[in-house]
Amino acid sequence: MTTQHLLLRGRILTFTAEPSGPDDTHAYHYVEDGALLIADGIIIASGSYATVAPQATAPEIVDHRPNILMAGFIDTHIHFPQVQVIASWGAQLLDWLNSYTFPEETRFADPDHSAAMASRFYDQLIDHGTTTAVAYCSVHKTSAEAYFAEGQRRNMRMIGGKVMMDRNAPDGLRDTAQSSYDDTKALIDAWHGTGRAQYAITPRFAITSTPEQLEMAGALAAQHPDCYVQTHLSENRDEIAYTATLYPQARDYLDVYQSHGLLGPKMLLGHSIHLQPREIDALAQTGAHPVFCPTSNLFLGSGLFDDAGLRARGITNAIATDVGAGTSYSMLQTLNEGYKVLQLQNQPLHPLRAFHWITRGNAVALGLEDRIGTLDAGTEADIVVLNPRATDAMALRCDRATDLFQELFILMMMGDDRAIVQTYAAGTPSKRAGARGNLQTG
Ligand code: GUN
Ligand code: ZN
Repeated sequence: MTTQHLLLRGRILTFTAEPSGPDDTHAYHYVEDGALLIADGIIIASGSYATVAPQATAPEIVDHRPNILMAGFIDTHIHFPQVQVIASWGAQLLDWLNSYTFPEETRFADPDHSAAMASRFYDQLIDHGTTTAVAYCSVHKTSAEAYFAEGQRRNMRMIGGKVMMDRNAPDGLRDTAQSSYDDTKALIDAWHGTGRAQYAITPRFAITSTPEQLEMAGALAAQHPDCYVQTHLSENRDEIAYTATLYPQARDYLDVYQSHGLLGPKMLLGHSIHLQPREIDALAQTGAHPVFCPTSNLFLGSGLFDDAGLRARGITNAIATDVGAGTSYSMLQTLNEGYKVLQLQNQPLHPLRAFHWITRGNAVALGLEDRIGTLDAGTEADIVVLNPRATDAMALRCDRATDLFQELFILMMMGDDRAIVQTYAAGTPSKRAGARGNLQTG
C-alpha cells in the first residue's frame, strides 16, 4: 500500500545552527518558493518547490503562499493543571501558589476533570503553534495519564510528568516519597517511549519535597537515564530563603538537587534567575539547562533572567511560557516579553536567534534536534504556518517591512494565535476550524 503524500508550499525558514548575529546566513535556510513533502508523519523532502514537487506521487497539495512554514514551536516549561489559574491577580510566587495554584490543582484528582482539561490544554497549544511541550502535571497519577493519553490521541511529541510533592502543600495535594516513586515508575513504564511520549521525572521544587523524596527522584533518574528531569530553581528571593532553612546543609539552592544526583544534561531548571557563581559553574559543568520564562517572571515580579551571562559560560538556555504564572500560551508573545526583559539588561535579541530559540534551540536543549525543531528531511512533520499580516495592525506595519528579519520581528512582537494559520502535528493539520489564524495575506 502506498501512503498519500502531502505537499506543503510556502516560504520556508529553518535553522541549522544558532545564528551568531544578524548576518549569520550560514545558520539558516530560507526559500522564497519552498515546499515540504510529507509521508507517514515524516518530512521526506524539503527545499525549493521546483525540486521537491516532482518527487511527490499524487500528492495532496496545500498552498500556503505567501505565509511562512517553520518548525512547530517547542515550549519547554508549562503547567497543564494551570489552564484555569492563568491571570490570577496580585501575588508573588509563594502566595500565588498557596492562594490560587494549589487549590486548583487538587481538582485533578478527578480523572474526568483531568481528561476534560487535557483536551482544552492541547487545543490551546495547537492554536498557538506549539507542537511539543514539556509539562508539569498535578501530583495525581491520573493527571499524567490524561496528559499522555491526549498527546497520543493527537500524535504529538509530548514530554511531562506528575509532580512529586510530599510537604508544604495542602491535603489532597501531597504524595509520599514512596508513592511518588511508585507512581512515577508506573508512569514511565506505561508512557515513556509509547508513541511519541517521553517522561520527565518532576520533583516540583525543593520546598515541596523532603530529602527522602529527592533521594527517590535521584534513584529514578539513575534507573532511567533517558528520562528528563525537571524542576524549579531560584525564581524568587523568599523561595530561596525558605529553601535555605529547609536544606541547611546545602551549599546553595542548586546543591539541593545536585546532592541528590539530579543534575545533568537531561535536566531542565525553570527560571534560574538569582544564581550564585558556584551554581553557574555547576550548570556549565553538568550541561543542565536553565529555562527562561519571561511572561511568568514579569507577571510574578520574579526578576530578570541573565541570558547573555549564562550563554557566555557555554550554558544552553531553553525558553518557555510557564503558563499559568506565564500569561500567554504563545511562544511569539513569550519572545515579545523575553525581548523586553533582555533589553532591560542591554542584551538585544535578534529575531533570527529568537525564532531559532523557540524551534531548533529548544530542541537542542532537549537533545531532540534530529527529530523536531527543524524542517530537515527525515525529521517529524511538526510544522507551523505563520502569517506576518495576521491583524490589521501587523499588516499596516508589514507594509514598511523591507526584509525577512523585519517580518520576523513584527511576528514576535505583535503576533499571537491569530498569526498561526495552521499547525501540523506529525503531518496532520490540527488547528480547529474557527480557531484558525486570519488567512488574509495581502
Ligand atoms: N515553583 C513551584 N511550583 C511552581 C509553579 O507552579 N509555577 C511557578 N512559576 N513556580 C513554581
Ligand atoms: Zn513552573
